Amino acid sequence: MTFDIGRVRAAYPALSDGYAYLDGAAGTQVPAAVIEAIAEAYRSGIGNVGGAFPASARSGAIVAECRQALADLTGAHPDGVILGPNMTTLTYRLADTLSRGWGPGDEVVVSRLDHDANIRPWVQAAGRRGATVRWAEADLATTELPAAQYGELLSERTRLVAVTAASNVVGTRPDVAAIAAAAHAVGALVYVDGVHATPHVPVDVGALGADFYATSAYKWSGPHIGTVVAEPALLETLHPDKLAPAPEGVPGRFERGTAAFADLAGVAAAVEHLASLAPSAGDATAGRRRQRVLASMAAVEEYETRLFAGLLDGLAAMEHVTLYGKAARRAPTAFFTVAGHSPRQVAAHLADRQVNVWHGDNYAWELAGVLGLRDSGGAVRAGLVHYNHQADVDRLLAAVGELA
Ligand SMILES: Cc1ncc(COP(=O)(O)O)c(C=O)c1O
Repeated sequence: MTFDIGRVRAAYPALSDGYAYLDGAAGTQVPAAVIEAIAEAYRSGIGNVGGAFPASARSGAIVAECRQALADLTGAHPDGVILGPNMTTLTYRLADTLSRGWGPGDEVVVSRLDHDANIRPWVQAAGRRGATVRWAEADLATTELPAAQYGELLSERTRLVAVTAASNVVGTRPDVAAIAAAAHAVGALVYVDGVHATPHVPVDVGALGADFYATSAYKWSGPHIGTVVAEPALLETLHPDKLAPAPEGVPGRFERGTAAFADLAGVAAAVEHLASLAPSAGDATAGRRRQRVLASMAAVEEYETRLFAGLLDGLAAMEHVTLYGKAARRAPTAFFTVAGHSPRQVAAHLADRQVNVWHGDNYAWELAGVLGLRDSGGAVRAGLVHYNHQADVDRLLAAVGELA
């Protein structure tokens, strides 16, 4: 298995602007193959789906290929792939639908570690139905989300557990499989936010025990499209609000209005891009895409983990830097403050040095609150993705070092 970072970076036109793009956790750059797939869809002529003419059939084929690509990425069935504009929109839609059967006495469990998009839709849906919200807490010293606490939180009244596969700020990757097993033991459904995890690790929704798994293509080199995958048989039991003439079947009845067809062509190209990041000798064209994605993402995880270790060591060695996040298993995302400078000032200083980072709570609103960061401007977030290289890390460390 090879990971040729020079070849990987050459695939991304935007990286030639000389900036260190450490803002990938908020959205990645897009490789030429994805840009070309979107352009080609428009160039070739597309129409709305279901028509009797070839351009309509081309859009139908794009949708089918997109579902298959997302199934290959996640291990789901293509008929269980719901497409939409982003994770937040789809999660609100699922929360509205799933909560129809909830009432007083029912319970949902959310976690303090999660992005607000996997908290607020459930809290608000529970509120509308008179259901009770229970909170899984992050251990503030380690930023772990201990799975053992779910034994106390779950009961036969638990209807749903919402949990992230990786924190978008401190990177923690909780033991989702253990949490899901405990949830299933009491008959609850499990909704996993895979938005931050998907760009960094091989994903297998079956192994995770995720009844629903959400991810957004713009976090892994694709366009601004979100998806939620689930077993088709589970989706058959759910009935979201829909227009009378809109599709009755699944997953179509979960999708609203006309899709962004050209962007969906870009999603499939992005999955192909992930699958080809680390070609094994001889398998560049051969091999089923699911196997290629798993092998390639394993190489990505190894590459990013090594690069991230140096980034963390460098920041940890600086006395003026306070690092948040110490989980044993984590995505390559650093969250830190710098003494004497607000997070926004740090981000502006880094921008002057051509380093892109985020500042603030990054919508990890609950976690920022319990860490005591919410009212002081949050923290700085520097995250790696597969196209970052050592020079990006070196530039970040040099620029943060200047603030001592
Ligand atoms: C972990 C996590 N969950 C959910 C979201 C929301 O995703 P979307 O922008 O697709 O609604 C984000 C976006 O930053 C995220 O990082």
